[in-house]
Amino acid sequence: MTAYDVEPGDKVHRGDPVTVDRYATGARINHWVTATCLVLLAISGLALFHPRLFFFTELFGGGQNTRAVHPWIGVVLFFSFLGLFVRFWRANLWKREDGTWLARLRDVLTAHEEKLPEVGKYNAGQKAVFWLMSILIVVLICSGLVIWDQYFAGYTTVEQKRLAVLIHALAAIVIICVWIVHVYAAIWVRGTIGAMTRGRVTGGWAWRHHRKWLRELVGGEGSRRTTPAE
Ligand code: HEM
Repeated sequence: MTAYDVEPGDKVHRGDPVTVDRYATGARINHWVTATCLVLLAISGLALFHPRLFFFTELFGGGQNTRAVHPWIGVVLFFSFLGLFVRFWRANLWKREDGTWLARLRDVLTAHEEKLPEVGKYNAGQKAVFWLMSILIVVLICSGLVIWDQYFAGYTTVEQKRLAVLIHALAAIVIICVWIVHVYAAIWVRGTIGAMTRGRVTGGWAWRHHRKWLRELVGGEGSRRTTPAE
């Protein structure tokens, strides 16, 4: 199938929106498994972080169960995000237009998109979120392994564990903030959620927010470098 659901020669009825494939089923499942893991990790992690939030442990069958299950969800998140990383890292490489886009953040926030450069599959904000998530997940898994006493108690010193606990908690707080930005942006830019639920966006959405990507998809310069739905 081409980038459009509409093939040349097809009858297009008035009012039928042109849609563009953005994510294949595998990528969407991969994304939602990752998202579920992060939410469960945030809740179970916060439950262990502060006595006032200890009541969250009820969701996981009590304190000991929460403590046992939290690191395993972390392992699933790590491998699940690795899947996303392998799929999307190339599309998140920094391009010249990204600097310009970022410098015009005021126009982004006031929805003056006509003043922004044309961007590819992801804009600079999405790329920043992607790389921040990638770094933070590596920091979280590494620091998490240091404090996973059930299996690795003997491999590190108490001083190393103390430092790891601090780094783990700070990285967790930052990734929760980055996640809030990610979700807020997905809701704020109308039509974006459909990309990750149905796998498609409207042609208007693609033209407005990711025009360079759309041009590449419909056969312009560099079309062979772009796959419609990764
Ligand atoms: C649970 C709430 C979440 C929602 C509602 C959500 C929504 C979305 C949507 C709508 C997109 C498509 C954006 C586009 O194509 O322009 C997307 C992309 C993406 N999401 Fe999420 N997401 C959530 C959680 C997460 C989590 C927890 C992670 C990782 C830890 C994550 C990682 C990604 C990545 C890597 C992409 C591809 C964008 C890129 O590579 O820059 N998402 N998300």
